[in-house]
Amino acid sequence: MKIEKATLIYFSPTLSTKKILNAIVKGMNIETINEINLTTKKNRDKFEYNNKTDLLIIGVPVYGARIPKDLYPYLKAIYGNITPAILVTVFGNVSKGFALSELYTLVSKRGFKVIAMGDFIGRHSFATEKAPLAFDRPNIEDLQIAKNFGENIIQKIQNIDNIEKKDIIHQCVSSKIIGNFFNIFHTILPQNSNKTVIKEPVVDYNKCTKCKICVDGCPKQAINTDTLEIEMDLCIGCFRCVRCCPEGARKIVYKGDKFVRAFFNKENIMQKKAEIFI
Ligand SMILES: Cc1cc2nc3c(=O)[nH]c(=O)nc-3n(C[C@H](O)[C@H](O)[C@H](O)COP(=O)(O)O)c2cc1C
Ligand code: SF4
Ligand code: SF4
Repeated sequence: MKIEKATLIYFSPTLSTKKILNAIVKGMNIETINEINLTTKKNRDKFEYNNKTDLLIIGVPVYGARIPKDLYPYLKAIYGNITPAILVTVFGNVSKGFALSELYTLVSKRGFKVIAMGDFIGRHSFATEKAPLAFDRPNIEDLQIAKNFGENIIQKIQNIDNIEKKDIIHQCVSSKIIGNFFNIFHTILPQNSNKTVIKEPVVDYNKCTKCKICVDGCPKQAINTDTLEIEMDLCIGCFRCVRCCPEGARKIVYKGDKFVRAFFNKENIMQKKAEIFI
């Protein structure tokens, strides 16, 4: 089997998922990649998936142990024609959760055959220098693992003569049950438990130059264009606005400082490694 055109779909507010995907794609060395970045609402509004692709690659971060639930309408709208798919989730070294099971059930019901998948580690969205959870991830080693993963996928694909018959990655029964559960109940399950421990990243008007980079980049359009204040009901706590502000005018502030710092202290948490299925 030969791959000429691949479609890459991702959501990556703080860019770790994108870095991992770039490394995988580099290892695959595919000529044409159709990139669909679902991070901003502006991009999501013009989302269109034509199934004329040889391979689908999806990458999402883990939010509250699951797929960010705003992505469901888009992921549910893609259909394949026994098309091979690669699934990638990226988590902040706390827990990979159930996102990969959830993603697997979602796409395998829609005409895709999962040929490889993996969960990788990226800097935790809530990490700061004082609470540096997975602060330097993905590091060189992570990116090398991702690149090797891409190279191995291409080798696997080259050996597939008939994708209909080929034994692809299988899901165990418990993983199927979990995946289906979240596929069905994603709309009613809460995902923003972070709000109990982290404050919204308010703007420091002394530093802010009103460039509005944060306004344009916010995945939920939660930042008021004039006042630069955040509408808390919309905000998903992705902290993209903190990372992208060139003036450092927004900060991550913990509510229970001591507790959160202890929890997010890298010395207390074993550095996890990517888990790959191929
Ligand atoms: C709302 C929210 C919930 C999160 N939940 C988890 C989690 O359950 N486990 C974990 O290890 N990391 C969790 N993270 C951290 C992200 O998965 C991690 O930082 C990831 O690298 C972010 O990807 P991105 O840089 O592509 O946006 C969470 C982040 C956010 C914003
Ligand atoms: S990105 Fe920073 S400097 Fe620019 S408007 Fe937002 S808070 Fe202000
Ligand atoms: S306002 Fe909230 S949703 Fe928007 S970028 Fe900032 S943290 Fe993310």
